[in-house]
Amino acid sequence: MPARLEIDGGVPLHGSVRVSAAKNAALPALAASLLTAEPVRLTNVPDLVDVRTMVRLVETLGATIRREHGELAAQVARVTNDVAPYDLVSTMRASVLVLGPLVARHGSARVALPGGCAIGVRPIDQHLKGLARLGAEIAIENGYVVARASRLKAARIATDLVTVTGTENLMMAAALAEGTTVIENAAREPEVVDLATLLTAMGARIRGAGTPRVEIEGVSELAGTSHRIIPDRIEAGTLIVAGAITGGDVTVTDLVPDHLSALMAKLGECGVALEVGPTSVRVRGPGRPRAADVTTSPFPGFPTDMQAQVMTLLGLADGQSRVTETIFENRFMHVAELARMGARIETDGAIAVIRGVSCYQGAPVMASDLRASAALVLAGLAAHGRTTVSRVYHLDRGYERLETKLTALGARIERRA
Ligand code: EPU
Repeated sequence: MPARLEIDGGVPLHGSVRVSAAKNAALPALAASLLTAEPVRLTNVPDLVDVRTMVRLVETLGATIRREHGELAAQVARVTNDVAPYDLVSTMRASVLVLGPLVARHGSARVALPGGCAIGVRPIDQHLKGLARLGAEIAIENGYVVARASRLKAARIATDLVTVTGTENLMMAAALAEGTTVIENAAREPEVVDLATLLTAMGARIRGAGTPRVEIEGVSELAGTSHRIIPDRIEAGTLIVAGAITGGDVTVTDLVPDHLSALMAKLGECGVALEVGPTSVRVRGPGRPRAADVTTSPFPGFPTDMQAQVMTLLGLADGQSRVTETIFENRFMHVAELARMGARIETDGAIAVIRGVSCYQGAPVMASDLRASAALVLAGLAAHGRTTVSRVYHLDRGYERLETKLTALGARIERRA
């Protein structure tokens, strides 16, 4: 039987907890190692299932990886294979991040089309349109994207919507293209900025990362470097909500407060007391949170990756809240499971209306995706009685030792095989 978490809820969490590095910054950083023959040394790399999957993928493409204590050196002396196979891409959509670097450095890439996933259809048309603008020939053959180019040429690319990995793929491709590429409507997420910082350290010339207009002046070659991955703002947010939902007193350290502004503003509206330090946030839970309305949007808006966790908090609020999910069309899978714990939530398309209850009851629940699993763990921490969260492999894709961190804060949570 796959592992599950057993949680005896109702313990206010206390103490201090350190945030790990961002999964969604580590994945593009590993893909970026394909852009140079020299070693790219990454420090503060989180030990996560998704990171291991990306390591396996770049290894199949020719990388030699050395990993020691959270430090990882990737060297792709030569790209020996240009195929990202379906078995890897279907377990992790972020595999598509190798597409841009492979075409730019190697001149060809064959990447399995990801297909849909638990949270939505998630097409990659914007990645492909952008690469075509850079001069790549793109075809779909037997479920694979086949992209070819002798040398990519700079272009002005205006994406139809804001896409995080799309922006990252195009930035990496443009870094080795001939001329200056402009990406309009670029994603502004901190993970995009972190990738730009890494690429710049590798010798790329990038301006405007973190704004909707990114300019990349292509160079003919990139070099190795050393880079520290930024803290995971979603893990940080999840731990902050854990402190709030249990009525605890928790200091979350090693984070970047500016990356959490939208979340902290919303928690403030809910009556959660936050003390913000230079690299930490102390959270003290309110007796009962106040209701609030949340709409997800690209950074600097409220992150879709915190929607499920905050809905879990709002489920216990005094009053009625409304959550609108604008990024993914199917990201309310946690609602039915929260209902099993006593939550009163109704959904209609992209909108969830939450009538707060005074407590959750422990129950067996099933995780459907990464952030939904985190939401169920939070509900379990707050609930009366025992909650068993099954299918925690979803959680392991993106949270490093979550139960160990929560145990250190006083939670009663155990992993069972
Ligand atoms: N979209 C398209 N066409 C494209 C690209 C995206 O229609 O070519 C749509 C998507 O279907 C979605 C929206 O645009 O409706 C935004 O998707 P985006 O491309 O920004 O998402 P992503 O890059 O695939 C990253 C994170 C996700 C996070 C989203 C939104 C990584 C590896 N993944 O995905 O993280 O939810 O941005 O912020 O960076 C997670 O960590 O749990 C996770 C799902």
